[in-house]
Amino acid sequence: MDIGDWLRNLGLPQYEAAFREHAIEIDVLSELSEGDLKALGLPLGHRKRLLKAISVLGAIEQKPSEAESELRRMIDHIPVLVAAYRADGSRLYVNQRVRESTDRTVVADSELAPIAMHPDDVALADGTWRACVASGEPFELEIRLRMANGAYRWHLNRRVPLRDENGKIIRWYGVGYDIEDRKRVEEKLRRSEAFLAKAQRLSLTGSFSFYSATGEFSWSDELYRIFEFEPGLRVSLELIRTRYHPEDRHVMDGVPERIRRGTTDFDYEHRLVMPDRSIKHIRVVAQGTTGKSGEGLEYFGAVQDITQRRVAEAALDKARSELAHANRVATTGQLTASIAHEVNQPIAAAVTNAQSALRWLLALPPNLEEVEHSLTRIVRDVTRAGDVVGRIRDLIKKAPPQKDSVDMNEAVREVIELTRSAAAKTGISIKLELADGLPPIRGDRVQLQQVALNLIVNAVQAMEAVADGVRDLVVATAPAEPIGVIVTVKDSGPGLDKDAIERVFDPFYSTKPDGLGIGLSICQSIVEAHGGRLSVAANQPRGAIFQFNVPS
Ligand SMILES: Nc1ncnc2c1ncn2[C@@H]1O[C@H](COP(=O)(O)OP(=O)(O)OP(=O)(O)O)[C@@H](O)[C@H]1O
Ligand SMILES: [Mg+2]
Repeated sequence: MDIGDWLRNLGLPQYEAAFREHAIEIDVLSELSEGDLKALGLPLGHRKRLLKAISVLGAIEQKPSEAESELRRMIDHIPVLVAAYRADGSRLYVNQRVRESTDRTVVADSELAPIAMHPDDVALADGTWRACVASGEPFELEIRLRMANGAYRWHLNRRVPLRDENGKIIRWYGVGYDIEDRKRVEEKLRRSEAFLAKAQRLSLTGSFSFYSATGEFSWSDELYRIFEFEPGLRVSLELIRTRYHPEDRHVMDGVPERIRRGTTDFDYEHRLVMPDRSIKHIRVVAQGTTGKSGEGLEYFGAVQDITQRRVAEAALDKARSELAHANRVATTGQLTASIAHEVNQPIAAAVTNAQSALRWLLALPPNLEEVEHSLTRIVRDVTRAGDVVGRIRDLIKKAPPQKDSVDMNEAVREVIELTRSAAAKTGISIKLELADGLPPIRGDRVQLQQVALNLIVNAVQAMEAVADGVRDLVVATAPAEPIGVIVTVKDSGPGLDKDAIERVFDPFYSTKPDGLGIGLSICQSIVEAHGGRLSVAANQPRGAIFQFNVPS
């Protein structure tokens, strides 16, 4: 008998909906307690009536056999949700586990299988179930059920039909397993896989495993991307070989043999040729451990696409060699400028001496003695020019200076000799203040003289620029601490402002219309090559003081 008919017979049809909703059928009535009926919202009088009718029903119904009771107990207590459905898909029965563990306090969500389901799953579950009922195909679906504590848990639901002898479906039986824990693990796994894939994508690193006993490979998606193979393609050593750069085959050809011999560590780089002929550089690192079955080795490895790094390195190398070349060109320019600057003085002197030689020769009578003196000086000047060129080359090549024993006073005196006539022409008096008992300097005499000469020429040129006032040039030597010599060149020219003081030693800094701006930078290089220091300060009341020291 149907529960609806039974209630109608009792004159209580108003409870049919509540009974149906809680899946209470005739065959479970005997298990209902007074409390259950109260929970269904029946008033006391109706409860009494029902309980009486149930006891009568129990009396008429055959007492279930021991085997039947056992079966019922079993169905109620197995740790799965069990349900039976009518041929039309409406639910007929649920086991005790369903009644106890799912949320029965609220109105069911699903029309056909009244049970609390996640709202997002209802449509799919009902749709699928209807389709199965119509076609007779077994039903299988993962859905979230609301449990007694209000939380949702994933369940795998399966329902299969029972047919009569004519093949007509008379019942459906279904079970639901709690798969929440499995779902969580799956989600965690999915996430960590996604992380890994992202990391591989970002670092351009693919990973693989290889089992030597079977030759089986397992590749990550990124590795397929690096090799530009169709994802999922069965990978073998032969297939990988098709990508090798012909010149790098030798790197790889020994690998199978090394695997056979049981090598556990691999770390190598080689190139790949892609189908579009482009080249990739990869680095492969792999480590082998004894295989699961104790046979062969199981390798785990990573392959990184280092093409960008290699390309950048190549570009850097190119830039470096270009820079070196530019440097050489710049050095040549500096060399040319320095030579032009330094040979000016001796050549000018040679010209002057040549002119006077000519004069003495053309005099009547010719003064051959003076001619000889002039020619000797020409030889000296030209020799000096040659020396200067050699020293400048050394300086720019950064070769260590020659180590002569230099008497600084004598060296300075010689330089003054060279410039005295030029200075006198411009009304400049050169005052020498040479200290006695100076230690000899170990250094390059020609180079140190160039320093003094350049400082004196600059001072003379600076004072030429001032229209009036005294034109004093003091060249002094003094002992330096702890042991060495200081040379000072003081003038009464316009001096230098703050900005100029900072820049005077820079190559090509010049305020003169025909200046190269190379004189002071040569001086600085020479002094520093001798282990000394060149500095500039203001003179009082005006002018500049240039000073350098050279240790002994
Ligand atoms: N005694 C000085 N008084 C004032 N300014 C000076 C003095 N010596 C150098 N300078 C400044 O320093 C600049 C650089 O001097 P530097 O000898 O290097 O080059 P330059 O004399 O201009 O040219 P060149 O390369 O032909 O010697 C000069 O142009 C000048 O402005
Ligand atoms: Mg100069």
